[in-house]
Amino acid sequence: MVEDHVLANRQSWDADAHEWVDRGRRDWQSEEITWGVWHVPEAEVGLLPELVGLDVVELGCGTGYVSAWLARRGARPVGLDNSCRQLATARSFQREFDVPFPLIHADAERAPLRDATFDLAVSEYGAAIWCDPYRWIPEAARLLRPGGQLVFLGHSYLAMLTFPEEDLPAGEVLVRPHFGMHRFVWPENGGAVEFAIPHGEMIRLLRSSGFDVEDLVEIQAPDDARTPTDPLATAEWSRRWPIEEVWRARRR
Ligand SMILES: C[S@@+](CC[C@H](N)C(=O)[O-])C[C@H]1O[C@@H](n2cnc3c(N)ncnc32)[C@H](O)[C@@H]1O
Repeated sequence: MVEDHVLANRQSWDADAHEWVDRGRRDWQSEEITWGVWHVPEAEVGLLPELVGLDVVELGCGTGYVSAWLARRGARPVGLDNSCRQLATARSFQREFDVPFPLIHADAERAPLRDATFDLAVSEYGAAIWCDPYRWIPEAARLLRPGGQLVFLGHSYLAMLTFPEEDLPAGEVLVRPHFGMHRFVWPENGGAVEFAIPHGEMIRLLRSSGFDVEDLVEIQAPDDARTPTDPLATAEWSRRWPIEEVWRARRR
């Protein structure tokens, strides 16, 4: 059975896909791998393993730029996404930039892919935030070979507690409780459903799904960061607190 949140998020992402084309093209054009809203270079944070020859699955690939970056560095990515409109954009960029790789229209909580076929599962704001961790993390474990790595970036724990009810950016007040955090519905975002759980729960979930936790990287805005229009958090906020975090775990 397809979960309600998967259908709600499919509708919301199909409706919003046109707003992600320009950002997608900018990232496809980038030679450098960068992460998150502050475009922190991979060279600084070192989240990825050596990529040559790795079988990679990107869970919630959107416009596909992360997979394209990895393909250009010798990996063999497969991009999976729940929105056919986002995948249509990804396909057009594959033609425009001549970087082909398989794209699959599917739910990352129930991927139509064989067990133990990937060395790396990656998600930047894809399954990492739009899928239920209790469903997609065991699914990522199933897809990875022993020794394979899971790397995912999303809003930080603190961001989820401090995003105001109605509007962004993140504030300096704890707006919602730690205990019981799991599912967040954003009415102003077409009823999209986002997920986040406390760090202790995430560690227990990763471990019980067959992962060893290797790192939790809390991203700090660079010194020269300027607050963009429509920020998740201001540059000042993001120099004091992490607006994004990256988990790295290895399949036992
Ligand atoms: C913000 S994009 C992530 C891609 C890219 N890294 C980015 O930051 O633009 C979020 C993507 O997650 C996808 N997504 C949401 N729920 C999903 C699910 N259950 N399975 C796979 N993809 C999903 C959406 O369709 C959307 O394309």
